[in-house]
Amino acid sequence: MINKLRLENFRNYEKELILLTTGINVFFGLNGQGKTNVLEAIYYLLTGKSYRVQRDQELIRWGQTNFHIYGEFNVAQRPIFLESHYLNKRKIIKINQVACRKLSDYVGTINVVYFSPDDLFMIKGGPSERRRFLDFHIAQRRPSYIGLINTYNKIIHQKAALLKTNVSVSLKIEQLRLWNEQLFIIGKKIIMNRSEIINRLNNISYNIYEMLSNQKEKMNIGYVSMGQEELEKSISKFSELLEDKIMSEIDRQIILVGPHRDDLRISLDNKLARNYASQGQQRSLVLSLKLAELEIMKEEKGEYPLLLLDDVLSELDSFRREYLVEFINLSSIQTLMTLSSADEPQVKANSKFKVHQGQIRRVY
Ligand SMILES: Nc1ncnc2c1ncn2[C@@H]1O[C@H](COP(=O)(O)OP(=O)(O)OP(=O)(O)O)[C@@H](O)[C@H]1O
Ligand SMILES: [Mg+2]
Repeated sequence: MINKLRLENFRNYEKELILLTTGINVFFGLNGQGKTNVLEAIYYLLTGKSYRVQRDQELIRWGQTNFHIYGEFNVAQRPIFLESHYLNKRKIIKINQVACRKLSDYVGTINVVYFSPDDLFMIKGGPSERRRFLDFHIAQRRPSYIGLINTYNKIIHQKAALLKTNVSVSLKIEQLRLWNEQLFIIGKKIIMNRSEIINRLNNISYNIYEMLSNQKEKMNIGYVSMGQEELEKSISKFSELLEDKIMSEIDRQIILVGPHRDDLRISLDNKLARNYASQGQQRSLVLSLKLAELEIMKEEKGEYPLLLLDDVLSELDSFRREYLVEFINLSSIQTLMTLSSADEPQVKANSKFKVHQGQIRRVY
């Protein structure tokens, strides 16, 4: 759990210290006061990345040049102190005061599950949103997966560069085949990882969604790779397609085959959610996936990860709100939740913080 969070020049916070408790910690306040910024800071501290922006620069309080985030945690009864500094345009991350060289040495120290309203793009948006969700989930549990993805991206990058060069077609084909061998080896590992996690997420989220919807609706997710929905079929198609598409790749100068084009099919009552699901149903689908993530991490680590819920209750009906809050309370998951109002009858919080103009005050 997180006990203490200290922010310096992060977003609209100048200097702020927050002492957190077990169970549900609510952050409430008007729009634009800094509720989401608190969750963003914690997410950044745990993952080295913002959930909202690509460039760390945007996280610095306007008019300043650096920011600092400090957090005190307890994992399996051991204290862990994490620091994240953005100093002279460079990121420095430390675990117990020792600097980490690679992100993979850091990610997964303390696991986190974050629900953001932007996650609804997982339903409505393109496949890259869904791959990002899967890859990040796998990376938290197996940090070596980050290396696998980086290697894969390098191969894709090199192959794309080759497609754009002016060498003869026969030479291009020869070189493409060499890259394809690498792409197949690394790509297959990525596919296996994704497939394994999708199966587990599917089983757990199915049950959660069923309860969340009061037994009325059923969700399913499935992996789509190489246009196939079965692992064996997609892998057996993989090397065949790599060879078959060489000429089209040369013509179109894009890479047509590989897990960088994979997708996750999310359906509700056997219909594609993006086309048919309502706002509240979309939210419930994403939420069920996030809660399934929690359960998988708990199974593996013996402890629930930290749960960050940004504006999760809007659009959920009262039954679903109640189910969610009960789910959290029954499992004693430490949760930081933003709300626009302090009086949300369904939410039984252990502490409540009022957020106003970049200042946080505990009121309960
Ligand atoms: N780099 C920055 N420096 C200073 N202030 C910033 C910075 N980035 C964002 N802000 C300010 O932070 C505020 C937004 O904070 P945040 O997104 O946490 O709001 P919120 O309380 O979650 O609001 P809502 O209820 O609308 O979601 C805005 O007022 C914005 O102007
Ligand atoms: Mg917000």
